[in-house]
Amino acid sequence: MCGIVGYIGNKNCVPILIGGLKQLEYRGYDSAGIGVMNHNGVHVVKSVGKVAALETKINGSPFRSTLGIGHTRWATHGVPNERNAHPHVNNAGTLMVIHNGIIENYVEIKKTLSAEGFRFVTETDTEALVHLIDSFIRRGYPLFKAVRAALSQVKGTYGIAVVHASEPDCIVVAKNGSPLTIGIGDSENFIASDVSALVAHTKQIVYLEDGDIAEIRRDSFFVNDMTDQRIEKEVQYITVKLEEISKGGYPHFMLKEIMEQPESVYNAMRGRLLYDEGTSKLGGIDEYADRLADSKRIIISACGTSWHAGLVGEYMLEQYAETPAEVEYASEFRYRNPIITKDDTVLFISQSGETADTLAALKETKRKGALALGLCNVVGSSIARESTAGVYLHAGPEIGVASTKAFTAQLTALALITLMIARKKRLSLTDGQTIVRELQMIPDKIRTILRLNAQIETIANKFADARNFLYLGRGYNFPVALEGALKLKEISYIHAEGYPAAEMKHGPIALIDENMPAVFIALKDSTYEKILSNIQEVKARHGKIIAIANEDDEEIDNYVDYSIKIPRTIRMLNPILSAIPLQLLAYHIAVHKGLNVDQPRNLAKSVTVE
Ligand code: M6R
Repeated sequence: MCGIVGYIGNKNCVPILIGGLKQLEYRGYDSAGIGVMNHNGVHVVKSVGKVAALETKINGSPFRSTLGIGHTRWATHGVPNERNAHPHVNNAGTLMVIHNGIIENYVEIKKTLSAEGFRFVTETDTEALVHLIDSFIRRGYPLFKAVRAALSQVKGTYGIAVVHASEPDCIVVAKNGSPLTIGIGDSENFIASDVSALVAHTKQIVYLEDGDIAEIRRDSFFVNDMTDQRIEKEVQYITVKLEEISKGGYPHFMLKEIMEQPESVYNAMRGRLLYDEGTSKLGGIDEYADRLADSKRIIISACGTSWHAGLVGEYMLEQYAETPAEVEYASEFRYRNPIITKDDTVLFISQSGETADTLAALKETKRKGALALGLCNVVGSSIARESTAGVYLHAGPEIGVASTKAFTAQLTALALITLMIARKKRLSLTDGQTIVRELQMIPDKIRTILRLNAQIETIANKFADARNFLYLGRGYNFPVALEGALKLKEISYIHAEGYPAAEMKHGPIALIDENMPAVFIALKDSTYEKILSNIQEVKARHGKIIAIANEDDEEIDNYVDYSIKIPRTIRMLNPILSAIPLQLLAYHIAVHKGLNVDQPRNLAKSVTVE
């Protein structure tokens, strides 16, 4: 979603801001803008569409400064056009603000300020904040105090950066619910909503917390809370490397990330498996391992792909850990009155660690006294920091909007958690060791699957014109069917539905005809015979069938049009393998259709608004 960058130092900020905005492109946006400070005041350039369009607009213009802020906007209030793009300026053209999040009481603020003579020119909620800050400046407040006073009247979420011509050597930033970091340099400082915009410049980062407000100058910065008390901040060193956030020779981030899965899955389990004891050890939650194992119930809460991983986790926990498990959409969980007790553990899964609904559900869980654990990929993200304890996925940065390697890393981490609990309960040493051994073999099995890329591309090309798809699976492979359908929808814009295969007879079978491809995840497990029957039912109605099957399954070829054969593993780990051909299928269909695979329309990488 929206992205923020900012610079104050001795270099020309324009290329730094443009470079930073380009690093944030993966988050999804529809317009962009930068604003700089020079001797005449603040100057803003905005454009609809890609950062490249903004760059073209700036190129050739005498637009330079040593202080500036930049923004990519994902429209919430008001259509994506230049007027609604950020930075927003006050009526005098002396103040500029960029903002991520939503000002919920903007209508009231706008009404009051309009009555006082402030002129509103955009449809955005942010503009209310600009004029509110300006109203305090007009009353003689210095910038920092004006921002704090304005924010104390605001309801909603924000990550903001504010610049005023009367204080040409500072940027004021504040955070509540939207991520914001300060990057520390040598006689220069940076701000960004996502560290990927900073890695080219510095590894020293200060993560702001909700309620923090900071003043940033070339050589210094300070952070206060909303009561104006100074907060000492720890400087953290980020390990993300520049090459990890570049395409590395692949045409798309999504393909690179799919291909990285042998390593990312290995990294998710690295150093965490104890073969001799037939268990796992997860440093981040070790202290809570007994409480987790003693939980009366484990609730998993997440959104999108992470929710699908949670569904697989539910099957794992029920099969091995003998713990009742439930999976909840974070957005529903937080707005119901969920019955959570101190005997429950709630596990929050989020690749980005910034998903607004998941974060809000986490906060609600903590209020109710249950153990709140996080399963995140992005180190230092809001959910990682808010959780009582947690497990990092170590999948490396995921830039493609469609989540791929984070999903398989989530499944791996869930398997490790399940194993740890199960061994504290009744799982035998030998059964524990079997799971450890099977986990250790997964990266090589993924390599085998990735060698099918060309075959999957050929199949994909045959189906690129389909208008609808059904994805069907049973047991552990039902969530994989949901995930396969989501991957296809989000990047190819083909309507796709995932169902438990047995549900087909209860409605979706009406859709089947010769134009309806059905993807079956038909692995040799206890559901195999049943799924073969479902395949027959589709075949009898002339549906086209693609099956994800096991390598040693020759029988299936009698019933399906195309089969993609993957290695065998134990049931709980099947989803890690079966998801991968579905990622490749979706990828190649989208590429064949000439679509923007990494930044599909309307989508954002981190959904930081509710
Ligand atoms: O960062 P999160 O895992 O919390 O994100 C949750 C969803 O927004 C995300 O999985 C989304 O569904 C992806 N685009 C799926 O590919």
